[in-house]
Formats: sequence, structure tokens, C-alpha cells
Amino acid sequence: MGLFSKKKVLDTNKLPRHLAFIMDGNGRWATAKGMPRTYGHREGANAMIRVVEACLDFGIKEVSFFTFSTENWKRPKNEIDYIFELASEFSKKLTEKEYSNDIKIMTIGDLSALPEETQKIIADAKQQTINGQKMIVNLAINYGGRDEIVMAVNNIIKDGINNVTKEIISQYLYTKDLSDPDLVVRSSGEQRVSNFMLYQMAYSEFYFIKKHWPDFNKDTVLDCILEYQKRNRRFGEVK
Ligand code: IPE
Ligand code: IPE
Ligand code: MG
Repeated sequence: MGLFSKKKVLDTNKLPRHLAFIMDGNGRWATAKGMPRTYGHREGANAMIRVVEACLDFGIKEVSFFTFSTENWKRPKNEIDYIFELASEFSKKLTEKEYSNDIKIMTIGDLSALPEETQKIIADAKQQTINGQKMIVNLAINYGGRDEIVMAVNNIIKDGINNVTKEIISQYLYTKDLSDPDLVVRSSGEQRVSNFMLYQMAYSEFYFIKKHWPDFNKDTVLDCILEYQKRNRRFGEVK
């Protein structure tokens, strides 16, 4: 069965299981409108809601959002505080939606560095959605791929494991309950990974979009999936 929109057909048998977004361009989007960067982040959070709803409609099983990187601490304090506020607001909002029983909110990254109030709200949202079966909404907050690998290695050592395998490494990453991202989308024209899911992206498809993150909507998500469906994933094989 196909879902139609803009006369474009989506193959529901070839969906990315895990769709990940490196959300970029909130600041530039706001600056272009003569507005403060924080306004861009607010509209970025609204775009996240639209994207979650689109992913649910299209049948995506796991969606990840790179919300705050370990490098983003270099930003002005007011901007950092605002992003954390939005992250908790976003999580809380999701628990109040009519589809809140269908989703399961998860996080990756070291949340212990966040303000206590933020940690509490996000923990509550995770607890409230713990039984969600249809789709995982994964927020990467204070997340860095290199930090994650360092953490995994230290914990493996601590547990006294000495024949380390790829599977063991995967089990020690924040993403142990997620599949590897099939498609990684980055907005705003930047073509880099900025320390996102380094180990997990070994065979991900990449899609770089010019549009800034606050302009993302259901149609953009459809475009991303259609682009993915054009790709020929070989995983090193000859086909
Ligand atoms: C993405 O937008 C949000 C975060 C990285 C937290 P930016 O804030 O990076 O926007 P630009 O890249 O400065 O335009
Ligand atoms: C990447 O965006 C991090 C997030 C999306 C949270 P940045 O805007 O921080 O990345 P750089 O600095 O352009 O690489
Ligand atoms: Mg940026």
C-alpha cells in the first residue's frame, strides 16, 4: 500500500526503521528574520513536534533528534538555558498529546549535567511513556559520539570484560535499545556529523537539506523518506 502526497508515492515496505535528525540552522533562521536566536530554537521545537507527528503517520519506528551536543556548552549561557527549557517543554508536551500512548520518549547523553528541574521533567515524560509501542522518540541531549565511546570503554573495563566484540560495544553505548540509524538528515546545508552517533552511523545513509530546521514539516519528512527509498544500500556486497 502506498501513501500519496504531492503525487509522490511512499513505499511502506521500504521505510527507514530509525530516522535521525541533526537539527541545524535555528539561529540562522531567526537572524534572517531579525529575531533573537532563542526564537529560532522555539520554532525549532515546534518543528520537532511536526516531525514527530509526521513520523508517526508514516510508520517510522524510531526517530532521533540531536538536541544539544557536548560541544554546545561553548554557547552563551542564556541560549543553553533556553534550549534545556525547550527540551523539557517539548517532552512534557508530547505526554499531553492524544498519541502519547503510542510513543516512548528516550534520551541519550549525560543528562546529569542539566538543571535538576529539566532532568525531573524529562524523567517524568520518559516514565509516563514507558509502555509506548508504536514509535520511540529519542532525544540526544548533552550527547557526543566520542564521549559515548569513552564511557562505553571505561564501563567495559570496569566490568572486567576482556574479549570485547562489536556486540558488546553496542550494548555499552547509550543507544543499546535502539537500532542504528538508517537515514541521518541534517538541515541547513552543513555537511558534517558534528560528533553525532559516530559508532552507530557506520552504514547510515546521509541526506543534507538546505532548508533550516524551523521550516521542517510533514512534507520535508516525506521528502527525506522518498530520498531514502531511492538509495541502494549494499553494505559492502556486490548486488
Ligand atoms: C540547531 O541550530 C540547534 C542546536 C545546535 C542546539 P543552531 O543553533 O546550531 O543554528 P545555527 O547553526 O547557529 O544557525
Ligand atoms: C550540531 O549542530 C549539534 C546539534 C544539532 C545539537 P551545531 O550547530 O552545534 O554544529 P556545528 O558547530 O555547526 O558543527
Ligand atoms: Mg548550528
